[in-house]
Amino acid sequence: MTELNSFPIRRLRRFREKEFIRKILQENTLNVNDLIYPIFVSEDISEKQVIQSMPGIYRHSLKSILYEIEKCYKLKIPAVAIFPVINQSKKDNEGSEAFNEKGLVPKVIEKIKNSFPEIGVISDVALDPYTSHGQDGFVNMRGKIDNDKTIQLLCRQALVHAHAGADILAPSDMMDGRIIEIRKHLDANNFYELPIMSYSSKFSSAFYGPFRDAVKSTNNLSGKNKDTYQINIANCKEAFLESYIDIQEGADFLMVKPGMPYLDVLFNLTQKVFLPVFTYQVSGEYAMIKNAVNNGILTESAILESLISFKRAGARGILSYFAIEIAEKISS
Ligand code: PBG
Repeated sequence: MTELNSFPIRRLRRFREKEFIRKILQENTLNVNDLIYPIFVSEDISEKQVIQSMPGIYRHSLKSILYEIEKCYKLKIPAVAIFPVINQSKKDNEGSEAFNEKGLVPKVIEKIKNSFPEIGVISDVALDPYTSHGQDGFVNMRGKIDNDKTIQLLCRQALVHAHAGADILAPSDMMDGRIIEIRKHLDANNFYELPIMSYSSKFSSAFYGPFRDAVKSTNNLSGKNKDTYQINIANCKEAFLESYIDIQEGADFLMVKPGMPYLDVLFNLTQKVFLPVFTYQVSGEYAMIKNAVNNGILTESAILESLISFKRAGARGILSYFAIEIAEKISS
């Protein structure tokens, strides 16, 4: 490459000397359109409630969630992802509250769509906030997670969310074959226009810890993990297999989750596939950065830096608890 002739002819610092040149040469930017804001909602509270492990993030009441959505609307954040906090008394082995048509999630979806029809509502299709054991699947007599039975339950849950008006369904459970079965079930019920965002490469990560506190499933899990369905943290090829299989099964969007610890997976995947790939900067990533900023260990610019890394790696959209905070910054 002739452009790589060397010093003293070649001085890349000429790229960086003046701010206007730095601006022109910037290869990636974070736009408000890139952001999806995850929101926790509980029907047991009347005021928003602090989540200890996630400073600045709350469990919302059915009322306070609308103020939060209004913020997103004003900041032009295109979509939110809803995560329910289910009362312990409603949790059971199969997570049956997940397909209650009058349950919390359908109620919230309807509320948001009535007040802010333009905001995209992404609903999580998974059983873990609803199960007494905190797993994402139905646990059989031998204590094992029954893949195919779980899919049937997920299909019912998906249809409830579809009827309530969800704009995108996001299965986050990692059962084999759930994308094709949910797709078929939706199509059979005339929801062929409703897209599926598959959590296609979801790792069995410790970075979900604060989320499990937020939805109060930590105690239900009681020290158990999700290693029999979420991907081994050490595996990259297996993550691609999961993604390719989900493409074949009809996923409209893919996802790599968590984000920062798996940038290699994200980058490699976005180089290989044409479908849009999203990434989820999960609760543990948020908590680390937020606590470091709050304690003066990192400056605030670490937040934008963390999000730009996903753009460099080719993400089409980013789920992040920083969405509101960063949108306020980049749109002012
Ligand atoms: C549940 C689900 C999890 C997250 C999103 N959906 C947790 C888990 O799999 O245990 C994690 C999100 C986060 O940590 O912010 N299926």
